[in-house]
Amino acid sequence: MKTIIYALFVGLISITSSQVMATSGGLHLDTVEIDITDQASLQRGAKTFVNYCLSCHQASFMRYNRMAKDLGLTDEQVKQNLMFASEKIGDTMTVAMRADDAKKWFGVTPPDLSVTSRSRGTDWLYTYLRTFYIDDAKIMGTNNLAFKDVGMPHVLWQQQGYLKNDVETGHLDTDTKGSQTTQEYNAMIADLVNFMAYIGEPSKIQRLALAKWVLLYLFVFFLVAYPMKKAFWKDIH
Ligand code: HEC
Repeated sequence: MKTIIYALFVGLISITSSQVMATSGGLHLDTVEIDITDQASLQRGAKTFVNYCLSCHQASFMRYNRMAKDLGLTDEQVKQNLMFASEKIGDTMTVAMRADDAKKWFGVTPPDLSVTSRSRGTDWLYTYLRTFYIDDAKIMGTNNLAFKDVGMPHVLWQQQGYLKNDVETGHLDTDTKGSQTTQEYNAMIADLVNFMAYIGEPSKIQRLALAKWVLLYLFVFFLVAYPMKKAFWKDIH
């Protein structure tokens, strides 16, 4: 019995650790600061997401009216800036393209991005969205450092321009300049990843707010409970 338990335990450990290996895959990930309470950053990220990602991907767990509330926007502002005319404020963030068309065009259906920030991690996303590079062997003309042979085109090429992979140094260098500097592009991607972290776990905002009250409650409770405990035990010591 003991050996069976031991075997199961070892098996479990190796499964989890091999998954960790698979997600990082030896690639160096750049780190990004995430703050889902920063509404200005979330608003900028939402705009990029809606303009450049929602045409192919959906975020089917996210409703527009919930997003309005969490991002500090009115329903009207969201309707005007972040939604297609045909959508209603209570709708989820679905996609214009039909799944079977997408499959035909890209060979794969673009996955739903509702929880990608959790499955891949925010550092991975930050790295992925900044490391598309020219690869003439690919139909899309680009490849990606974090996701080899990815079926997604470099959709933000206008902003970032094109990078080329220097085989000798292993670094990505600018091939064609985009409309943004590297710093501006990194900041835009950080906001986008922040937004994706938010849609991965929207109730976290409420939880963070609640946590403050819980801590305050515990503190006040302690102020009451401690003198009480002392009073109760006074005669026993
Ligand atoms: C033209 C369509 C298209 C657009 C626009 C697009 N993507 Fe993609 N994306 C894809 C396809 C197709 C895949 C699947 C690639 C594969 O599996 O090879 C993908 C994959 C991904 C993945 C990997 C998901 C995973 O865990 O495997 C992420 C993350 C992603 N896209 C994020 C984005 C973001 C963020 C944007 C907006 C800046 C965006 N995409 C815009 C088509 C698109």
